[in-house]
Amino acid sequence: MEDFERRKTILELEDVSVTFPNGMRALKPSSLKFYRGEFAVLLGPSGSGKSTLLRCLNLLQEPTTGRVSSPWISGPASESSARVHRRRIGMVFQQHQLVLSMTALDNVMAGMAGSCGLFRAVFPSDAMRIEALECLDRVGLAGKAMNRASELSGGEQQRVGIARALAQKPDAILADEPVASLDPARASRLMGLFKKICGDSGITAVVSLHQVSLAREFADRIVGLRTGEIVFDAPASELDDSAVLEIYADSAALSGGGTGARRSPAAPREARERELAGAF
Ligand SMILES: Nc1ncnc2c1ncn2[C@@H]1O[C@H](COP(=O)(O)OP(=O)(O)OP(=O)(O)O)[C@@H](O)[C@H]1O
Ligand SMILES: [Mg+2]
Repeated sequence: MEDFERRKTILELEDVSVTFPNGMRALKPSSLKFYRGEFAVLLGPSGSGKSTLLRCLNLLQEPTTGRVSSPWISGPASESSARVHRRRIGMVFQQHQLVLSMTALDNVMAGMAGSCGLFRAVFPSDAMRIEALECLDRVGLAGKAMNRASELSGGEQQRVGIARALAQKPDAILADEPVASLDPARASRLMGLFKKICGDSGITAVVSLHQVSLAREFADRIVGLRTGEIVFDAPASELDDSAVLEIYADSAALSGGGTGARRSPAAPREARERELAGAF
């Protein structure tokens, strides 16, 4: 953490909480800073608030209390500062949110609309096409630029989603379960590629994952959430098995929900730790 503390803050939550109109408290008052160039992973059982936290960071979800800040927002976010903030932050979703009838190249160019305006997005210049092609090349898909997104595999579609986020030339990318639909080998390869691209460009990444093993392999820092509360925040090397148990305590994840581990609810602690050690 000390290394991170010395770096420039890109995104900050100050006492941010989210309670939905139905009374569901998805995020308890939470304070977090994300620093330039760090690769942070959010871990936590289903419903623990990972997506809500990511949505707050991108101002897609208005906090019930507290505030979100970045170099582009000071004080309460006006509409124009919120727009700049969102332009500086790319999003990658589990369901990639591509237009399946459009080519990979057109999907990537759609990512430029925020900075170049709608006219240019509809009638792109040659320079934009070249830039979009370069983004596809970075994710190893230049050869499929003219394929419709519907013709691409899940992993390829996800790489187009990353290329689209890169086309925004973002300072940070928020990725919500970007590899959830991929098999373990492809998930690991894509995480490796994503981390390399972010590292090469100095892009801050905040990625939500269900796979503890991937978090351990790729994260610089892991933030663990449980029932809307941050229960772990440390370098990945400090995520030992008891920390995993703390994050997933009493969750379905320990009975196979997302980590692959299985246990009976009454399993003693050592047995649970043995199972988890094997599973991760
Ligand atoms: N619009 C909403 N209205 C009411 N409750 C909501 C809304 N969106 C999310 N929730 C609830 O808030 C809690 C946190 O949801 P969130 O989507 O942030 O969890 P998550 O950690 O991303 O889960 P998952 O791993 O399944 O994606 C959940 O209990 C969810 O049901
Ligand atoms: Mg989620």
